[in-house]
Amino acid sequence: MIKKTLFSREDIQTRLDSLAIEINNYYGDEPILVIPLLRGGFMFASDLIRRLTMPVEVDFMTTASYGFGKSSTGDVKLYSDLRANVGGKNVLVVDDIIDSGYTLKFIKEHISKHNPKSLKLCTMLDKPSRRKVDIKSDFVGFEVDDLFIVGYGLDYENLYRNKDYIFTFDDIKKERDE
Ligand code: IMP
Ligand code: MG
Repeated sequence: MIKKTLFSREDIQTRLDSLAIEINNYYGDEPILVIPLLRGGFMFASDLIRRLTMPVEVDFMTTASYGFGKSSTGDVKLYSDLRANVGGKNVLVVDDIIDSGYTLKFIKEHISKHNPKSLKLCTMLDKPSRRKVDIKSDFVGFEVDDLFIVGYGLDYENLYRNKDYIFTFDDIKKERDE
């Protein structure tokens, strides 16, 4: 398989600096509860929260969407729920990518039931051309085309999440569309 780098380590770190400024400006000194979605969101969230200047609380949720890898069925499963109380808090959900949008729509509806003061979404990547439901990410690192993306939290068959750059394998798209 031939790897093609889409965003280098430097591209990512530079974008994180400007994205964090957007988020810092938006919230000011208000405390926020950051919820990285496991597993894909862990690397991005860890780099992002180091750059946030307000008081930050962190909690995690684990999700998986069935049928992903071919095409998402929209059947989102929650493997682990929050420990934190979200009532009255500014909640920022952080994930690696928004693709069909099923995952973040499900998470947004789930968290909304607990009456947060505000609820925003932040994703490193956005594939707008793949959206199946009407949802947008409020803070986006990079928009990408309809390619299968790997690295920096994103996996291919559970591998490569550890890479500090974002890449694609030339021949994956074909496999995924079959
Ligand atoms: P959704 O389709 O927006 O619900 O995205 C579901 C999840 O699929 C994301 O949180 C990612 O973990 C994963 N995903 C979506 N697109 C890609 C990709 O291009 N590469 C690897 N994982 C992806
Ligand atoms: Mg994910």
